[in-house]
Amino acid sequence: MADFENIKLTENGGVLTITINREDKLNALNQATLAELKTAIQGVYDDHDIKGVIITGAGEKAFVAGADIKELSGLNEMNARKFAESGQEIFELIENCHSPVIAVVNGFALGGGCELAMACHMRIATTNAKFGQPEVNLGIVPGYGGTQRLTQHVGKGKSFELQMTGDMIGADEAKSLRLVNYVEADKEAATAKANEILAKVATKAPIAIGLVVDCVNSVFNSDENGYQTEANAFARCAGTSDFKEGTDAFLAKRKADFKGE
Ligand code: COA
Repeated sequence: MADFENIKLTENGGVLTITINREDKLNALNQATLAELKTAIQGVYDDHDIKGVIITGAGEKAFVAGADIKELSGLNEMNARKFAESGQEIFELIENCHSPVIAVVNGFALGGGCELAMACHMRIATTNAKFGQPEVNLGIVPGYGGTQRLTQHVGKGKSFELQMTGDMIGADEAKSLRLVNYVEADKEAATAKANEILAKVATKAPIAIGLVVDCVNSVFNSDENGYQTEANAFARCAGTSDFKEGTDAFLAKRKADFKGE
């Protein structure tokens, strides 16, 4: 595994945990951290032994407290678009990853941190998690996909409220808004829940799992006919050995043994 300075990678039983590791800066995403995150996610695309990914923040206080405001302060109209687009590209890599990606949100998930969590397929929060898009306090709008994904998750009215007021919400409210899947007592319990979900997904047919990602994401892609994407995915699955294995196993009343083929 490559050496990183701003993130930490650990692998256990096919689950890769990516920890944003700038605890003294509440894991704020500077450009160096984003570059390392991109490399780590690209590695997941290339490594078929990775069955699932957890993204979390070092320490107990923060998942990620946003883009690094020191770096942000140097932006101008000329370079800010590239800044946003390059961050969006990395978060799209996460969203489109064919391995399941779960955010374990421990503490502050603000600005780019909330955007990072929303790019993951699922979110498990600790009771001390706090979500928010406080960019208006800095005179900007979210730039890493937050205006889009927050609206997808919580609907238009609440998305306007959160982005216009910059208010933070706690874990229980985030769950009631369907921004998070589960709330757990602490990081250990949240990580255990994430591992439990990933272990279950790992028993399913990998090609089908990847195509679920494509189909669900197509709902939010206005250039794509999601029903057609689904029909194509269905046909692709029907041509796999895993489809034969899954149906044979059901009919023989045994557990399927999927190979990802
Ligand atoms: N970018 C850069 N540094 C950040 C940061 C960010 N987004 N968020 C926190 N930090 C740094 C602080 O500057 C401080 O560094 P220092 O010790 O060198 O001064 C350190 O992390 C601890 O943060 P601090 O503000 O002292 O902690 P707190 O408990 O008082 O407050 C927050 C916590 C999250 C409420 C506060 O840090 C905050 O509002 N952060 C910015 C959130 C934000 O606007 N994010 C969106 C950015 S687009």
